[in-house]
Amino acid sequence: DGERSSSSAAAAFYVDSDGLQRQIDELASFSDSPAPSVTRVLYSDKDVQARRYIKGIMNQLGLTIREDAVGNIFGHWEGSEAGLGAVATGSHVDAIPFSGKYDGVVGVLGALEAINMLKRSGFQPKRSLEVIMFTSEEPTRFGISCLGSRLMAGSEELAQSLKETVDNQNVSFFDAADSAGYKMHPEDLHNVFLKKDNYFAFIELHIEQGPILEKEGIQIGVVTAIAAPASIKVEFEGNGGHAGAVLMPARNDAGLAAAELALAVEKHVLESGSIDTVGTVGILQLHPGAINSIPSKSHVEIDVRDIDEKRRNTVIEKVHQSATEISKKRGVVLSEFKIINQDPPALSDKSVISAMEFAAKQLNLEYKLMISRAYHDSLFMARISPMGMIFIPCYKGYSHKPEEYASPEDMANGVKVLALTMAKLSLQ
Ligand code: GLV
Ligand code: MN
Ligand code: MN
Ligand code: MN
Repeated sequence: DGERSSSSAAAAFYVDSDGLQRQIDELASFSDSPAPSVTRVLYSDKDVQARRYIKGIMNQLGLTIREDAVGNIFGHWEGSEAGLGAVATGSHVDAIPFSGKYDGVVGVLGALEAINMLKRSGFQPKRSLEVIMFTSEEPTRFGISCLGSRLMAGSEELAQSLKETVDNQNVSFFDAADSAGYKMHPEDLHNVFLKKDNYFAFIELHIEQGPILEKEGIQIGVVTAIAAPASIKVEFEGNGGHAGAVLMPARNDAGLAAAELALAVEKHVLESGSIDTVGTVGILQLHPGAINSIPSKSHVEIDVRDIDEKRRNTVIEKVHQSATEISKKRGVVLSEFKIINQDPPALSDKSVISAMEFAAKQLNLEYKLMISRAYHDSLFMARISPMGMIFIPCYKGYSHKPEEYASPEDMANGVKVLALTMAKLSLQ
């Protein structure tokens, strides 16, 4: 009878936390750096192994699997009204060098566990449900962040630039993809683009990557907006020379130009007038990289973000001015100043926020509305679908380093909120 079946459904509505943790640990073993760190770079052997692993779970759950040209992976559970836009969720499993095992992974394995819960509890979706594993959220290999979702959102600019894109070993994007089993023609990139009505909603579960939820003892973050990220590549060239023989007045040191630019980035960011402006020089390479040779080339990569797009763009302009001034002052050539991406922020959709709030309330979990300072595939999914994100606390806010950690209880809360949010949206 109705009562019995609904109470047995409630009993089945639990998270298999041991199973989820086992999967997280297993996935972390596909890594090119020693545990506890994780390194899993796009189209590497470890990435291919991780993909196989995710598809294996999708298969066990009875999801229909589709892969697009660049390897975005979709696990689909057909709803009773398959013609309606689906409710999708997902994240990434690529990991930057020497990072942790939760960034992105919680939003893929956790989403699959959410599907598992809904299946266990006998839920019948009306709108189809879909779990997406996005290709290369991280910019590690080709310098392009959210490669898979950016293409799904229809970035013609990216489809064009990928034709010329190579990694730092000079391997082209297409050769790298081919080596991972994704053989494609440049034209096939257009097949990755999705229509705007493909999804009714997109929700991403992710660790906060910041300290707020843990510090305030709040179980769930409901994300209202994602900050605007930008990245820039800069190159200086000088004459180089012998570190002993060339006197100081005769030098044009490309390395010092890079160092001065890094400090200028910090200065412009600090002078923006807001604590929300952040800038990082995470890559600084010198050529030839010998102690007794004056750097003849330097390569700098700069990450600038803000919740205010205009303020961020002002910082970028000032960084550009500084790069020009430094090159003049030091007699080096500014051979490249390339803005790789300069993305606008994204807002979560009101109806998705309501569904997430409803789910948290229903589960008696305390939640907080917050912004995401990290970017996510959701930033691009928001271009083609109403979007929302669920954050869970993580230890000391650590992320992008091996100490990253989220507790099984916090993950279980996130998975439950996700499952309930999807269920609710599926029936709308
Ligand atoms: C994504 O990993 C980011 O840097 O925010
Ligand atoms: Mn990341
Ligand atoms: Mn992530
Ligand atoms: Mn991220």
